[in-house]
Amino acid sequence: MPAIVVLGAQWGDEGKGKATDQLATTDTIDYVVRTSGGHNAGHTIVINGEKFATHLLPSGILTPGATSVIASGVVVSPEALFRELDGLIERGVEGVEDRLLIAANAHVIASYHATIDKVSERFLGKNQIGTTGRGIGPAYADKVNRVGVRIADLFDESILRQKIEAALDVRNHLLTKVYNRRAIEVEAVVEELLQYTDRLRPLVRDTSLLLNQALDQGQTVLFEGAQATMLDVDHGTYPFVTSSSPIAGGVCIGAGVGPTRIDRVIGVIKAYTTRVGSGPFPTELFDDDGARLQQLGGEIGVSTGRTRRCGWYDAVVARYAARINGLTEFFLTKLDILGAWDEIPVCVAYEIDGQRVDEMPMTQTDFHHAKPIYEVFEGWKSDISGCRTFDDLPRQAQAYVRALEEMSGAKIWGVGVGPGREETVVLS
Ligand code: GDP
Ligand code: IMO
Ligand code: MG
Repeated sequence: MPAIVVLGAQWGDEGKGKATDQLATTDTIDYVVRTSGGHNAGHTIVINGEKFATHLLPSGILTPGATSVIASGVVVSPEALFRELDGLIERGVEGVEDRLLIAANAHVIASYHATIDKVSERFLGKNQIGTTGRGIGPAYADKVNRVGVRIADLFDESILRQKIEAALDVRNHLLTKVYNRRAIEVEAVVEELLQYTDRLRPLVRDTSLLLNQALDQGQTVLFEGAQATMLDVDHGTYPFVTSSSPIAGGVCIGAGVGPTRIDRVIGVIKAYTTRVGSGPFPTELFDDDGARLQQLGGEIGVSTGRTRRCGWYDAVVARYAARINGLTEFFLTKLDILGAWDEIPVCVAYEIDGQRVDEMPMTQTDFHHAKPIYEVFEGWKSDISGCRTFDDLPRQAQAYVRALEEMSGAKIWGVGVGPGREETVVLS
């Protein structure tokens, strides 16, 4: 199976890090590739009880033998990149810089992007998106506006200066005249970025060429998604989305590989739902059950430390993710967390203005008005973290998994029963 995509099927934090790590350790994976987003992601991997979090780096950086790739669809903050690499080196992870490659045409996040992210959020007031404040949106805006700076530009000082001048020209008018801030100095940004060139140089490649050649040779490439389907700029809950395309189609754009090369598309999905930041969320719970999911699931953001909003599983979202991404399978995570409930509701459809709706509503207004229609399943009231096969799971947990599979539009390939690498049940 040479090309495998792992992506988020809900609003992020589904356990993509764990699913990637699971695949990378059970199969021989040659490359683990990030294709969109930036250091707004936070992926957790637990190896022998030790917890690691990756942000801009693919979680494959922790898999010896695999080469990690940051492809051209990613927005790269050199400062965040080296901070993360140094953090891993300090923790004793060896050879990280020897197994990392970065696309020459990936766009750069400089400190002014984060400044603009924060001031524009403040300007939005109660309509704010609740971004991570990492400069992701402004960096993608510059890219689409054709005033972005790319990694390769860092190796030509005069080009870099010209590009930053162009990028800051309009931005500085906006900062000083609209946001009432000080202008950003071109020279300060040039200096900020040039300090990374020597360390970046050996890592930079034409990663599209590299990955296509790897696939031609039958090597296995794992595309590790960040963010998620419902945060996709086209197909998510716009405007409460990120500024990239975390869906399967975005993988092809962000990596420079054709859709015909992809063999498996795995949607990672929690056995309930969480969301960080603003925006509609039909199954969100504001009661004790929501607080318990948050507490038992440890639902706190890996990147920003924000508390995640929690709710029951939403099969409408799951079916939508299966359709938008052409999922071949799901990886269902955090089933163990539901072991505390007598009964577990699952949203099977919505009620909108008195009508039953089975698919994602066409308009944002309808989605805001969607009320979940629940089917209630019997809980298993036990700790399943020691289960390793489907047969080990209690009867009620098996029924829950099979019911979700039935209503979600793709088969379930694996089930997470704990955060650890080994705490997984693989379904045959
Ligand atoms: P990602 O952004 O999709 O990689 O997910 P995050 O790392 O942000 O959040 C997922 C959290 O759930 C992390 O703390 C993981 O260690 C944890 N996790 C993943 N799978 C499981 C599981 O099956 N059971 C439990 N209890 N925790 C899990
Ligand atoms: P992983 O990869 C959850 C959310 C933010 C905000 C919106 C826009 O760990 O699943 P941005 O900074 O991207 O402009 O913020 O998107 N968001 C995430 N939520 N998990 C993530 O990544 C996220 N990355 C961005 O909270 O609502
Ligand atoms: Mg996360």
